Amino acid sequence: MPVFADVDTGVDDAMALAYLLASPEAELVGVASTAGNVPVQQVCANNLGLLQLCGATGIPVSKGAEQPLSAPLRTAEDTHGPQGLGYAQLPSGGEALTAHDAAEAWVRAARAYPGELIGLATGPLTNLALAMRIDPALPTLLRRLVIMGGAFDYRGNTTPVSEWNISVDPESAAEVFSGWTAAWSPDDAAHVPIVLGLNLTENIAMTPALLNRLADAAGASSAPMSVRDERGTRSTTDNPLIRVLEDAMRFYFEFHFDTGDGYLAHLHDPLAAAVALDPELVGCRETTVDVELTGALTRGMTVADWRGHWGRPPNALIGTEVDPVAFFDRFISRVGAFARRLA
Ligand code: BDR
Ligand code: CA
Repeated sequence: MPVFADVDTGVDDAMALAYLLASPEAELVGVASTAGNVPVQQVCANNLGLLQLCGATGIPVSKGAEQPLSAPLRTAEDTHGPQGLGYAQLPSGGEALTAHDAAEAWVRAARAYPGELIGLATGPLTNLALAMRIDPALPTLLRRLVIMGGAFDYRGNTTPVSEWNISVDPESAAEVFSGWTAAWSPDDAAHVPIVLGLNLTENIAMTPALLNRLADAAGASSAPMSVRDERGTRSTTDNPLIRVLEDAMRFYFEFHFDTGDGYLAHLHDPLAAAVALDPELVGCRETTVDVELTGALTRGMTVADWRGHWGRPPNALIGTEVDPVAFFDRFISRVGAFARRLA
């Protein structure tokens, strides 16, 4: 299954990429770097460094726009660390970026695998919106699209009502949702994107115990983390991928602890990666979604018209049910076995 991933790496984006690389049925055919958790140059460096660490060669990585479509960029170093990977140090260097940008990369990948490509977006939708401006028919070329973004009948994590990926670039999200149905002729049944919001992804809580299971599955030595550890304590494991994931996750645990969630971390983006490969992992409800762009208090809010008040066609399948145990079993067995091979 050819997969194109658009990411703002980011601790959980890195975990999502590791999952894709660890999944035998997936072929990662391109990575778009989008400004979000950290500026786009740093996202590029993180993607290249992670692929190098994972021994993944020949996967094109493209740089995206430096700014959202119309709002100034906001970044989240408080959540993901100064360089986006918490306390982890990735190898520097890696392969060169593509000469074309991330929007063009979306279009090229969709045209290279018409009807087959699985798109995954786990950052702001800036580059996907730009790609759909280049080729408005892009949605009809994809086999499926999975978006991590929004919060449905649920509070936000960036403002009281908006989720980070949508909040950073609400205009691009609105463009993607409206352009999606516009791309299909009235006779076609539109393949609407699967959209996983915080209402779903916050069920996926990584804990020190689960992280320890991951190290075990990799055959790696590891000391279980604890909320009582000194902040910033570094991993002592001998496995290079597990070390990066543990050092990244510790920062993410500390952030979640400070925001009152406990010593755990929500794996939003890895769930989206897993659903991109296997939509059966979640239950969904079809509806029409739009993004609030003007509200003084509600900008960036994702509004789902569950009862059809707008009389508009559906443009999203909203994730409403997930089994976290099934997700973690799959995540740990795949990423654990992959990390074991890298040791
Ligand atoms: C989303 O925001 C980012 O910080 C995470 O990487 C995830 O994609 C969750 O709101
Ligand atoms: Ca992300």
